[in-house]
This record gives sequence, C-alpha cells and structure tokens, in this order.
Amino acid sequence: MAKKLWGGRFKKEIDKDFFEFQKSIQYDYKLAGYDIAHSLIHALALGKTGILKPKEKTKLIGALKKIGNEIKQNKFKYESGSEDIHTDIQNKIEKKIGKLALKLHTLRSRNDQVAFDEKFYCHVECKNVGNLLENLLKSIVILENKYKNVSVVGYTHTQRAQKINFKDYLCAFYCMFERDKKRLNNFLKNLEVHIGAGALLRNIKKEDYGKAIKEYLKGSNAFIKPSENTIDDVSDRDFIIELLSILSIIQMHLSRLSEDFILYSTKEFGFMELPEEFCTGSSLMPHKKNPDFLELVRGYTGRIYGNLISILTTMKGLPLTYNRDMQLDKEPLFSSVEIVKDEIAIMSKFIKGVKLNELVVKEALKDKNLYSVDRAKELVLKGMPFRQAHDKIGKELRGK
Ligand code: ARG
Repeated sequence: MAKKLWGGRFKKEIDKDFFEFQKSIQYDYKLAGYDIAHSLIHALALGKTGILKPKEKTKLIGALKKIGNEIKQNKFKYESGSEDIHTDIQNKIEKKIGKLALKLHTLRSRNDQVAFDEKFYCHVECKNVGNLLENLLKSIVILENKYKNVSVVGYTHTQRAQKINFKDYLCAFYCMFERDKKRLNNFLKNLEVHIGAGALLRNIKKEDYGKAIKEYLKGSNAFIKPSENTIDDVSDRDFIIELLSILSIIQMHLSRLSEDFILYSTKEFGFMELPEEFCTGSSLMPHKKNPDFLELVRGYTGRIYGNLISILTTMKGLPLTYNRDMQLDKEPLFSSVEIVKDEIAIMSKFIKGVKLNELVVKEALKDKNLYSVDRAKELVLKGMPFRQAHDKIGKELRGK
C-alpha cells in the first residue's frame, strides 16, 4: 500500500480488502495529465500567496513538468498500491524532490482536483470526438458523391414507400452527425474548467488563482477560471451527464445507421454490399459474411445509455457537496468516450467501402407501388380531389 494523503487522525490501519475496494487508481490514472495541470496552477497560486518561496516553486514545477513529460511520452506508470492518481503523483514528486513535495497539497483538496481533472478531460475529449465526427461527415460525402445520381427504395414502417435519391438518404445521416457536432460545440462553449474550490470552500484568494491561470495558459483562450461558487464546483457533475447525453445521441445515430445497413445487406433486400474488412465469417457455415462491426455498434448502445443512466442515478440523491459516491463517475465517462471514439473512427473507414448493388436496386424500383403518390398527383392536377385520387389508386394497386 503506497503512502496516503490522510491518516493522522486514525489509530488503525485501513482494512486491506476495503482499501482495494475503495481505490480508484486502476481507472483514474487516465486523468494523470490533467492532474499535473491542476498541480502546476496550484503551485503557481501558492507562489503568489508567498506560501511557496520562489525557489521552492521552481523546484516543484520542475518536478511536475518532468512527470508531465513522462505522461506525454506514454512512459508514466502508476503504482497499483496508490489510492488514486492524485496520491500517486504526490508520492512520485516526493520521490523526485523529497520533503518539499509535501508543500504541494497546501490548502487544496482532491475534491477540487477531481472536478478540475474531469472537466479538463471532457474539454479535450469533446474536441477529439468533434474531430472524429468531422472525418465521418467527410466519408459520408464520399459515398454520396460515388452514387450521386442513383435512386433507391425509401421506406416508412419498413414497408416500401417512395423512390428516393441515395444521396438524400445518406445526407439524412450527415444531418444527424452535423447536429451532434453542434451539440458538442455548444457543450464546449459552455464548459468552464474551474480551480480553487478546496474541499468545499476557497482557501486561497480567487485573484491569486486568476494570476496563476494566466501564467499557466500564457494568455491563451482562457477556458480555465477560478472557482466562483466553490460549493457547486465540488458537487457538480452536470458536465459529465451532459457529455454522456450527447454521446448517447451520437450512439443512437450510429446504431440506426448500423441497423439500416444490416438490413439492406441481407439477401432479402440485397441492396448493399458491406466492406469485407469489417465483416467476419462463421466457424461452421462456410458461406457466411456477417456484419459484426455494425452489430457491435448497435449492441454497444446498451452500454452507452447505461453509462448515462448510471451517473444520473448516482447523482440524484446526493447531499451537497462532494460525496465518495461521485468517484464512480469515471468508469462510465471513460467507457462512453472511448467506445464512441472507436466506433466513429471505424465507421468513417467502413462507410467509404460500402457498395450499392445497383442492379438489385433497379429491379426493386420497378415496383409500381413506389409511384402511387405520383399517379395520385397526376389525377389531382387533372382536377380530381386528392381523397378520391387516393382511393382510386389504392383500389388499383390493392395487393400488388
Ligand atoms: N478518488 C476520489 C474521486 O475520484 C478523489 C476525491 C476523494 N476525496 C475524498 N475526500 N476522499 O472522487
């Protein structure tokens, strides 16, 4: 068990099983880079207050930056006996620079760190998801252009409805993902990463944090701000719920696209040929080519919705302010972000390889039913009331 950030008031050692049960390092290590950012700003703020002497500040910042570089180069390894990433980094600094490290945590709380780290994570990942969506939109356009002038059967109730342009059909998905991008942009615009809330109360002046943030960001677009209402800051997980809601909507769109493509690639429809690189075969039936990627995307919808519901439920009855229940927000957050990113990235490649079976589609388009509205319209233009034309054509096409 690594050194903890608390313990003075306890006479007994923590129970080993309970320690294992309550630690979060095995998943919150993903916040390491963001936690370094918190520590850098905090060290700068401590410098402003005079708590850290200039030399101490420089030494601490040097050690933090070293760990920061290890994280960037994927060389960072956490100690599995650490309680969480905040403790782990604190211990690593102590190993680097000795007792001076003990000053880093002056007047700050992990409650503030964890809220800051997660908001910063959401800020970065929201941009990443947005960029991936941009690629998906480009792939959809490539497929649209490949079949620019091709018509296909359009459906309502999964029953043949009217002839539509394949380009317009694909553009419907383009519109969905474009809306998703807007949702992400709005989320990003409203997301402020706050620092300085303490456990629930400010212990260092807002102005000192303000100056520290400026120095850290070097005047760049200030999405990091000193905490305004410290009580809200350590209690709030709305931003996770909001991002997971957006990811759930993206997931729903991916799932609907998958369902359509699964259906259209069946022998029964036969309209589409799916790219082989994203399908798998059967260990028994030699002829099979199964749309596993699309099925997994459709299947993951349960996980992505579940992650959202999990956090909504965890938060619903929590008394203000921070409660340990909130530690359980990380796995659903990371899980949804990682799954949706993978899905979008693979879908962007997948879409480009989709082929339309134009001969099969042409054959299907011979179905008279698809033109019933056009025929009713012709009668209307000749002066027949629409209800009467509807009735006449309906009788003509009955059962055809
Ligand atoms: N591991 C905790 C979490 O992720 C960090 C905050 C713990 N704060 C505390 N007072 N125990 O929520």
